[in-house]
Amino acid sequence: MRTTITKCLFPAAGYGTRFLPATKAIPKEMLPVLTKPLLQYGVEEAIEAGLHTMAIVTGRGKRAIEDHFDISYELEHQIKGTAKEEYLTQIRNVINGCTFSYTRQIEMKGLGHAILTGETLIGEEPFAVILADDLCDNAERGVLSQMVELYKEYKCCIVAVEEIPKEDTNKYGVIAGEPFNDNLVRVYNMVEKPEPKDAPSNLAIIGRYILTPEIFDVLRETKPGKGGEIQITDALLQLAKEGQVLAYKFKGRRFDCGSVDGFVEATNYFYGKSGK
Ligand code: UTP
Repeated sequence: MRTTITKCLFPAAGYGTRFLPATKAIPKEMLPVLTKPLLQYGVEEAIEAGLHTMAIVTGRGKRAIEDHFDISYELEHQIKGTAKEEYLTQIRNVINGCTFSYTRQIEMKGLGHAILTGETLIGEEPFAVILADDLCDNAERGVLSQMVELYKEYKCCIVAVEEIPKEDTNKYGVIAGEPFNDNLVRVYNMVEKPEPKDAPSNLAIIGRYILTPEIFDVLRETKPGKGGEIQITDALLQLAKEGQVLAYKFKGRRFDCGSVDGFVEATNYFYGKSGK
């Protein structure tokens, strides 16, 4: 079994109902912040972390994702030799720098189920997960890169967490644990979308995970939980009970681009950063 992380899984099969009607025919993951789709930001973060195999779980109506990470000969031909050619440089580097594989989630039974669907692309090795609608930024080092570095040391599951206002706990998986060091917490409890009064803390899991392949066996046995969906939080709780899960208070900013407010915030932030 490989012990280094080379693959990044992108669950991207969800319906994106909070962005209807925009997401009726366009995958949520292809909505752009400035000129770049959310999923491309995620892939670039994975590349920066040293991962070059992208495994994407798609679903019906998501073919734009595959077309985006492919050459468009007609377009390339059209703009070759013009000033516009540079607009494609970054995506071309992404396409040349890694490989993409896809599988389809046939029924959208939740994030845990989407990750289990990706097993065929991952196999028996530790892997990273990026939820592209959580857009992260760090001037020095990407969030996934920080987590891959930690994995080298601790060789267990790692979830990225951030402090949230208590009234928002019902939007996230929330953890409880004991301090391990400055930025790490050893997790002993996790609850999916608890009401504020039931939340074990205000530390919420965001869309960055390092998972070990044991998670697939646990997911196979995980029953539908909150919202009738197979929750990754419920599966991780099993491993947390064995002391195998760390929560990492990452350095950087995160935008919840699955919500309109977060998406607008991210757009303003990246526009400000672009210096236009
Ligand atoms: P979300 O709950 O944020 O995405 O799932 P959603 O269901 O698409 O959005 P809304 O709530 O309807 O607006 C988190 C991530 O998990 C993926 C989504 O694509 C998103 O990246 N996901 C979720 C799947 O791949 N399959 C599922 O069955 C559920």
